[in-house]
Amino acid sequence: MPFRTIIEPFRIHSVEPLRMSTPQHRKKAIAEAGYNLFALHSDDVMIDLLTDSGTGAMSRDQWAGIQRGDESYAGSPSFYRFADSVRDLFPFRHVIPTHQGRAAEKILFSAIAGPGKAVPNNTHFDTTRANVEATGAEAIDLPCAEAADPAAAHPFKGNMDVAALDVLLRKRAADVPVVFVTITNNSGGGQPVSLANLRAVREVCTRHGVPLFLDACRFAENAWFIREREAGQHGRSVRDIVRDIAALADGMTMSAKKDGLANIGGWLAMNDDDWAARCRNLLILTEGFTTYGGLAGRDLEAIAQGLREVVHHDYLQYRIRSTAYLGEALTRLDIPIVQPTGGHAVYLDARALLPHIPPLRYPGQALAVALYEAGGVRGCEIGTVMFGRQPDGSERPAALDLVRLAIPRRTYTQSHIDYVIEVCADVAARAAALPGYRIIEQAPALRHFTARFEPLPAQ
Ligand SMILES: Cc1ncc(COP(=O)(O)O)c(C=O)c1O
Repeated sequence: MPFRTIIEPFRIHSVEPLRMSTPQHRKKAIAEAGYNLFALHSDDVMIDLLTDSGTGAMSRDQWAGIQRGDESYAGSPSFYRFADSVRDLFPFRHVIPTHQGRAAEKILFSAIAGPGKAVPNNTHFDTTRANVEATGAEAIDLPCAEAADPAAAHPFKGNMDVAALDVLLRKRAADVPVVFVTITNNSGGGQPVSLANLRAVREVCTRHGVPLFLDACRFAENAWFIREREAGQHGRSVRDIVRDIAALADGMTMSAKKDGLANIGGWLAMNDDDWAARCRNLLILTEGFTTYGGLAGRDLEAIAQGLREVVHHDYLQYRIRSTAYLGEALTRLDIPIVQPTGGHAVYLDARALLPHIPPLRYPGQALAVALYEAGGVRGCEIGTVMFGRQPDGSERPAALDLVRLAIPRRTYTQSHIDYVIEVCADVAARAAALPGYRIIEQAPALRHFTARFEPLPAQ
């Protein structure tokens, strides 16, 4: 291309209003919400970067699919179109729809985990960890060493520590029903996993006779990074790379709210007939019949079409480039972020930006609240609030204290992102004056969704 600017590969077809608000209004709103950004009325948010999950814009062809949805209880043609679309990328024998990713996790771990078992992952996402632990099993994170240093620029910081996996499986293979790899590694900064790392993990799993599953929420973004960054992969089609990834695994869990480009949905897929039978029985108990799994036929159609669109190169180039645009601007402003920029989000390093707030006073929460108060930008703490509470009720600092600015797919324009950059610069300039927080109310698991906080007096 003769031009530098990578444009959005779409034009806008219908619009939603953003409600403008003042800092005074937002300060009141966040105080009423107990300083928990999940408790805000989203009308009070101007730029919503809380999550990229289910918040993207669907395409014309997805909306057309919604019209075509067949709501037959059993055997709907919409299910078969969905399953064909999934298998075109992930040719697993069994494809089981679920209403979202955590339902797939709940069903799988209820079927195969339990007390005494251990599930390794490069890094468990919060719901994945909670669903493993809810069965009484242990969730073990084995990220590569580079993941611990937010400033280290490594092309595949999502990789699993293969040597650590080998050590674990030498000791406890009999306790490990499955090894998981999360692509991209959301809790570890949205960083990709290389094909070489997946192949090495596969080799260790095969040697120890343990199946390998993918938490594949952002598989297309991960495949794009492989295409861009991994030796020998440049110029390949993303679909082929995805199929190479799938061929290394025995199954997957998926939230279609990410790289399914849909607002709801997910699935569980696998080759093992016995596991699939157990999962289908649980599905019927909690989600619905095996050909709809808690979804309407129209949702299955939206996912089927989304999967065709998400591997499109124009889309992925724009997607990854527009996230990097935000990351690069913040880096130029000396605002510490996890390097390199992830696929779906920029992760601000709150611990580095707010060194005066100790981890157990939640620097990530402090930064997220400040971004909201200043500019109505809603991000998400990924740190000690999310991961600090241990199964025994004690608390310890998470490995990192980050604020994730997740970019919904095909939703915001460059000027929205330019505004976010200005808000970040404003907050960073007054970082030393931001207060820490304490929790005044919390749930025993996944506390970040509902906890209430109180700001501490400034030091
Ligand atoms: C890596 C990862 N796994 C699992 C999930 C859970 O998916 P869902 O929100 O659809 O339940 C998410 C959601 O953000 C995720 O990022």
